[in-house]
Amino acid sequence: MSRKALIAANWKMYKTSAEAQAFVDAFLPMVAGHTRDEIALFPSPVLLPGVVAACKGSNVAVGAQNIHFAEEGAYTGETSARQLTAAGGTHTLIGHSERRQYFGETDEIVNKKLHTALKHGIVPIICVGEVLEERESGKTASVLKTQVTGAFAGVSLAREVTSSIVIAYEPVWAIGTGRTATPEIAADAHRIIRAEVSKLLGSDAAAAMRILYGGSVKPDNATALIGQEEIDGALVGGASLKPDSFAAIVKY
Ligand code: PGA
Repeated sequence: MSRKALIAANWKMYKTSAEAQAFVDAFLPMVAGHTRDEIALFPSPVLLPGVVAACKGSNVAVGAQNIHFAEEGAYTGETSARQLTAAGGTHTLIGHSERRQYFGETDEIVNKKLHTALKHGIVPIICVGEVLEERESGKTASVLKTQVTGAFAGVSLAREVTSSIVIAYEPVWAIGTGRTATPEIAADAHRIIRAEVSKLLGSDAAAAMRILYGGSVKPDNATALIGQEEIDGALVGGASLKPDSFAAIVKY
């Protein structure tokens, strides 16, 4: 089954609105007419309306790095799914390891956010991945299975919907460290994740679901990683901050 790759830029807490505008101005011409892959930018919430406006009519989608699971309410500092879609955002990251590590996000919270995103027609990118200690003690498979099972609790969907759900495998030891998983290590983890999705949602859904790799993806390793049959795109942090470097990854 051929799955259209998604190449996503996680800008984390970088860029002002002027810097984001300058990025988009330079980046759009570099990827104009590129239809082989889907492209999406994930700026901070305060930048989102400006980036949406700058990308309007282009082949580049815009999403949030996080949403809250509640519809609305007294949740100071949070962004709702409705606020995201009203601002023109179409995607959201869910459960990025930095959210899990610094903001206490659990598999249960990830699951609630997934339900909320699906209810609002937002494309979710569910992030999973083991920390170094878990990999070194042989726990990678069980950690991934627990995270995937937790994320999908209570989710049973038609194939059209599951094909819009995206998982990003991001080994925590590879994020921002310059230490990339080898294409073989990544593909192995992707097979574990896909097998788990198959158990939970059926083999058709598993075959349609895109699984991205994230963790120190750069222009010089993108081809080897995304070229793997099992790897359906990339979630890119550091190397997505410069237009030429992110465009080079898009064109792996
Ligand atoms: P990195 O970040 O590419 O800088 O390793 C990836 C991520 O955190 O999504």
